[in-house]
Amino acid sequence: MRYGYFDDKNKEYIINTPATPLPWINYLGNKDFFGLISNTLGGYSFYRDARLQRLTRFRYNNVPADTGGRYYYLKEKNKPAWNPGYLPCKTPLDKYTCRHGLGYTIIESEKEDLISKLTCFVPLDDNCEVHRLDLSNRSDEPKTIQLFSFIEWCLWDAVDDSQNFQRNLNIAEVEVEDNTIYHKTEYRERRNHYAFFGVNRPIAGFDTDRNEFLGQFRGFDDPIAVEKGASTNSISHGWYPIGSHQIDLTLAAGESTHIVFILGYGQNPVDDKWSGKNIIRKTSARFILEKYRSIESVESEFDRLKEYWNQLLASYQLESSHEKIDRMVNIWNQYQCMVTFNLSRSASYFESGTGRGMGFRDSCQDLLGFVHLVPERARERILDIASIQFEDGSTYHQYQPLTKLGNHAVGSGFNDDPLWLIACTTAYIKETGDHGILEEMLPFDNTPGTEQSLFEHLRRSINYTIHHRGPHGLPLIGRADWNDCLNLNCFSTEPGESFQTTSNYDSQVAESVFIAGMAVKYGKEYAELCQRFGDPKEAGEILNFVKDTEQAIYDSAWDGEWFLRAYDAHGNKIGSSQCEEGKIFIEPQGMSVMAGVGLNNGYAKTALDSVYDKLVNDFGIELVTPPYTEYRKELGEITSYPPGYKENGSVFCHNNPWVSIAEAMIGRGNRAFDLYRRISPAYVEEFSDLHMTEPYVYSQTIGGRGGHSLGQAKNSWLTGTAAWSFVNISQAILGIQPDYDGLRIDPCLPDELKQYKIKRIYRGCTYLIDVENHNRGFIEITVDGQKIDGTLIPVSKEKNTRHVTVRL
Ligand code: BGC
Ligand code: NOJ
Repeated sequence: MRYGYFDDKNKEYIINTPATPLPWINYLGNKDFFGLISNTLGGYSFYRDARLQRLTRFRYNNVPADTGGRYYYLKEKNKPAWNPGYLPCKTPLDKYTCRHGLGYTIIESEKEDLISKLTCFVPLDDNCEVHRLDLSNRSDEPKTIQLFSFIEWCLWDAVDDSQNFQRNLNIAEVEVEDNTIYHKTEYRERRNHYAFFGVNRPIAGFDTDRNEFLGQFRGFDDPIAVEKGASTNSISHGWYPIGSHQIDLTLAAGESTHIVFILGYGQNPVDDKWSGKNIIRKTSARFILEKYRSIESVESEFDRLKEYWNQLLASYQLESSHEKIDRMVNIWNQYQCMVTFNLSRSASYFESGTGRGMGFRDSCQDLLGFVHLVPERARERILDIASIQFEDGSTYHQYQPLTKLGNHAVGSGFNDDPLWLIACTTAYIKETGDHGILEEMLPFDNTPGTEQSLFEHLRRSINYTIHHRGPHGLPLIGRADWNDCLNLNCFSTEPGESFQTTSNYDSQVAESVFIAGMAVKYGKEYAELCQRFGDPKEAGEILNFVKDTEQAIYDSAWDGEWFLRAYDAHGNKIGSSQCEEGKIFIEPQGMSVMAGVGLNNGYAKTALDSVYDKLVNDFGIELVTPPYTEYRKELGEITSYPPGYKENGSVFCHNNPWVSIAEAMIGRGNRAFDLYRRISPAYVEEFSDLHMTEPYVYSQTIGGRGGHSLGQAKNSWLTGTAAWSFVNISQAILGIQPDYDGLRIDPCLPDELKQYKIKRIYRGCTYLIDVENHNRGFIEITVDGQKIDGTLIPVSKEKNTRHVTVRL
């Protein structure tokens, strides 16, 4: 069952009921100001950091779900109040559609001939959310309407806001000036920023105190102010500050009007933040409010936003006759890549915004799907990430987006982390040709005086792996590798203790076959960097290490039909047919084959067949099977999850593309595509009722056969699945692969994909690529009519456009 449909022309998903199985959300904002917005207008806004600079309040785990957001109450005399997004009043609507687009959400609704259209977006260059409300009276009679706006301020630090009540119920402060409500809690002391909520027309009243607006025993669904039709002009002193305007209007028969609300963030120099005694200097707010007073500015900024996205997406556009592939490639997958790049794993409807900062490995991988969109931002990100590395090549596991400093509480010891830096740097250079980045000087642990080139940082990354190997010559796992929950040196027995950071068993024995695969893959990539931009002798040494590691895999990590997962701290095998549970894991199969391991001795094919045979269900590839049924402290968090959930045997989507890419590497296009399709949102849309999460984006996890929620997805939006799926479809399957010297074209297609066209903007040149698949088993490429040898189209400085034909 579906709850809407894709509108590809407008790049929107149109939801036609508020009653989706879960709130289906969208993201507003691209750089600094962000808002999460659901199809019932729930969600919250923040400036840069969802924990430290949260503007509006949201209660995860609330009942009813998804309450707290941007609410507008529309009230005609003697009729019940209603909201454009259905919540919170739940007054039945005559019509409702929600259009989630790229960086904006539009909700159109209707009640008794009053038509409302609410357009919400964050403009490209202003720190605010614009809520444009269009109202029309379609009846033959005039309508007298009262409109109440509502947002609830968060007292900035979202954690403190939800727990430190003995303090924070005393500190709220607001100012009201003209039609604008200013939230200035803590501004009197160490903050120099404030938030504001204004509207571009006269108001009949306002409220800034939640108790006054809602009234005793009432919720968002029946505020007393709305019922009485009168704001109280309350000023919040402590307690719970809100922003609400009352606007009284009359619409003649057939008349329409538009009202623009602005929710914004303002900032002042620390030593110039007052304009009078305890009066905030409002310069930045006034600038924004003035600008969006006019509907023309709103329209032109909205158009700019759309144009911005059109241009971004233009760098990779596909035209196949398969609308589902097209819409994922052209719109939604790239869009999700941008969101994950921006927010890492910080703020979604599953990530509270108060927990993790930016993950080292997460951000490196997000970049793989983003680098072609805004390469300059990717460059900056690489430099930020490398600067949290330690001198020995290991790294903090996470860093804070606001300070860019490593997170001490989580620390380091996730031994796959360093190698991901090689992955993102090489992807960046292949996309842009900018190998000058290797010479950038960057500190270790952000400590001035320790600067070394990025190249040196990468050298230390690979050397960390080289110098941390275990008894079988495989890399030591540390606290965990990509699978955060396979904690082989953290034997936790205390409830509540972190499974991942309780390092009480430094065995120097537990080894990871997954990291071994990575070491082969990214070892080769690093060697190529040495070959091209560094010391060829070093390249040789690294390739020896790569060879040794590959041999170690054959000698000690081949189980007969698949690759082992690891050795635990006692030297026991994990992920072996000899194990009672957890016999086969997905990660080492995908990663090893992607690295080229087992291509010549048949292991690759055998391993992938085992994956298909044992791990695939209707909704994707499970992480492990059979899942663990008991907690085992020597394996860690993975066994803390009930069977079939999360790392313990769900379809953990992030790693599915690895297997699909591996299938493409061994030339099995049908398999590769089959596995791509199983988790692809556009294909999954048909059973949205089962899947539950948004059908336009990937989710992290989908219930596996071992549990009670087969096919049910969770943790949508912020997942490495976005980046890897884009790498998979755009590079491995459709075959457009950026390389150091040019664009390589090497598709591996399913039979059903007979022909397609791709427009790819690469290093300033537009490639118009026309592919026909005749299944001939070899490839022929012409560029501007000339046949080329091989699959690489060398970069040409002279041409702006190149016509490429590819015949398979
Ligand atoms: C989750 C992992 C996640 C980790 C982050 C675990 O509980 O299962 O998916 O990476 O927490 O710390
Ligand atoms: C989500 C984490 O953010 C990521 O770093 C990790 O690799 C996966 N979970 C798997 O555990």
